[in-house]
Amino acid sequence: MYQNEEELNPEAVSDYYGKVLQHSDDLQTDACCCDSDEISAEVKAALAQVNDEVMSRFYGCGSPLPLELAGCRVLDLGCGTGRDCYVASQLVGETGFVTGVDMTGEQLEVAQRNVSSQMKRFGYEKPNVEFLSGKIEELEALGIEDASVDVVISNCVINLSSDKAKVFAEIFRVLKPGGELYFSDVFASRRVPAALKTDPVLHGECLSGAMYEEDFRRVMTSVGCPDIRVMSRRRLSIDSPEVENKVGMIGFDSVTVRAFKLEDLEDRFEDYGQIAIYQGSLEGYPHEFPLDPDHVFERNRPVLVSGNTAAMLSQSRFAKHFKVLGNREQHFGLFYADPDYAASSGHDCGCCE
Ligand SMILES: C[S@@+](CC[C@H](N)C(=O)[O-])C[C@H]1O[C@@H](n2cnc3c(N)ncnc32)[C@H](O)[C@@H]1O
Repeated sequence: MYQNEEELNPEAVSDYYGKVLQHSDDLQTDACCCDSDEISAEVKAALAQVNDEVMSRFYGCGSPLPLELAGCRVLDLGCGTGRDCYVASQLVGETGFVTGVDMTGEQLEVAQRNVSSQMKRFGYEKPNVEFLSGKIEELEALGIEDASVDVVISNCVINLSSDKAKVFAEIFRVLKPGGELYFSDVFASRRVPAALKTDPVLHGECLSGAMYEEDFRRVMTSVGCPDIRVMSRRRLSIDSPEVENKVGMIGFDSVTVRAFKLEDLEDRFEDYGQIAIYQGSLEGYPHEFPLDPDHVFERNRPVLVSGNTAAMLSQSRFAKHFKVLGNREQHFGLFYADPDYAASSGHDCGCCE
């Protein structure tokens, strides 16, 4: 069963990101080479407007920037030099706001000294981004209030924490009802032995703190979120023979995950006969909307969906783009769709769980 990992040392992490690494190329895995397929056109355009100094110390492993961020309050956990904050700053626009939190002074200094030139580059009159020094396990100490955030993002950080249960509890405390956690991180194909956790390079390289995915699912269930959706997955290749030798047969994947803060999520897909219809109204997505790779909704096509999917589409910021018909008054059993039906109708298929 999942346990907190006091043997992971936060001071060693700060040292690694503040002093040992100076540049993205110093990493010993290909973690920060994101798949360009994972990056939407809007995010690519926004990345082109991020200053070189910020980009040169990007240590993320994915692109945790979901659709429909205009006007949102976004919180980036472990923001580093602020690459994703500056992308989010453009996506939320002047009516939204982005807060980045990190515990490493050297990383935050870079983020902070780029604020005014980035705001000028985006054409904003006043900053819509702030950077706070602190721990992602202690968001309350930073004054981040209950139910105050629309979207929490994070890029290759939570694996580094020695108290992951606390991080997820804090995330679900600060999210508004219907809010979203959308993050990229390194996950392990099996539990990493305790002996590897004290190795500062394996820890700093985001390997030895990586969560076994089934334990991640368990910790999410414990904070009230039993349905997580995997948006993308990429196997990491380890460039150092020494590191490779130490990790042995453990496989490490960079995974981007989405999860919503909703009251009534269930641990299986259940069928209440609900129907979702995408209105085609999301800017840049006139033909289809991808909730996740198994749930892609064509404009105007009615799709039978599980109770969980109906909740995600009707109680989140995506609600204005969907008509969701029906409720949970009548239950028809475990969600099932004939594979042929699923293939032709938008893929909401209980058998894909
Ligand atoms: C792999 S880097 C990723 C940085 C950034 N997200 C990016 O994509 O470039 C990890 C960052 O998380 C920060 N970090 C790790 N553990 C943390 C914690 N418990 N609280 C706050 N920051 C943390 C480190 O200081 C470092 O800047």
